[in-house]
Amino acid sequence: MKISVLGTGVVGQTIAEKLSQLGHDVMISTRNVQKVFENTATDRYGRPSFKEWSSANSNIKVGTHAEAGTFGEMIVNATNGAGSLEALEAAGKKNLENKIVIDIANPLDFSKGMPPSLFVCNTDSLGEQIQRTFPLAKVVKTLNTMNTFIMVNPALLAEDHNVFVSGNDGDSKSEVKALLKSFGWKTSTIIDLGDITTSRGTEQLLPIWIRLYGSFQHAMFNFKIVMSKS
Ligand SMILES: NC(=O)c1ccc[n+]([C@@H]2O[C@H](COP(=O)([O-])OP(=O)(O)OC[C@H]3O[C@@H](n4cnc5c(N)ncnc54)[C@H](OP(=O)(O)O)[C@@H]3O)[C@@H](O)[C@H]2O)c1
Repeated sequence: MKISVLGTGVVGQTIAEKLSQLGHDVMISTRNVQKVFENTATDRYGRPSFKEWSSANSNIKVGTHAEAGTFGEMIVNATNGAGSLEALEAAGKKNLENKIVIDIANPLDFSKGMPPSLFVCNTDSLGEQIQRTFPLAKVVKTLNTMNTFIMVNPALLAEDHNVFVSGNDGDSKSEVKALLKSFGWKTSTIIDLGDITTSRGTEQLLPIWIRLYGSFQHAMFNFKIVMSKS
């Protein structure tokens, strides 16, 4: 399948690489193609520059968001939450019609320093904002509650743990769940929370995720829901 991944950060790169390894035809997109190749700095994970990553993954196309909007039969939003609506607008409202938009972004507001707060919460969410702005897109929020390396390789953790799925369209969620399974998620670990308003809950897990990261001093953990025996 042709899949576009919006956002060239660690999440965009990790998801694009996994999709490509799984045999999908992938494009990763940015606000500025020239600028993203000029940035030679390593990121906070010490990963190589985008240029080095791209030459090691030369089968992954690089384009503008507009090109990605045209290219992808499915779109993944892996942009900074504060820029997600803008990036999806650039991909083209018309281009998103009837397409699944997997939203991984979190509405983190770093403007007042650390820890970040949420710029939308309680009675609304970024997932809902995206669905409202692009009413004909099939927005499915998922994978936003864990570190990106775990998203594409859940077996990195010692036990089973959970991934949440939110979205209005059942068929689109089924397609996304199949994609998650291809990433290594067991059926029993995928929790469908319901419609896109349930994104409020998963986005509001971020404040506690950030505090856990502060306590553990690493990001290799995830949430696990445990049931009663009976
Ligand atoms: N890092 C994780 O493990 C993790 C885990 C769960 C969820 N998330 C969420 O996934 C998303 C991506 O995270 P990330 O860590 O890869 O990187 P990020 O620092 O949030 O940024 C990702 C990309 O977004 C674009 N961007 C930044 N500011 C923008 C703006 N104002 N307008 C439009 N585009 C903008 C940039 O791409 P260009 O400069 O190329 O345009 C940047 O490389 C975020 O929403 C984050 O909250 C991250």
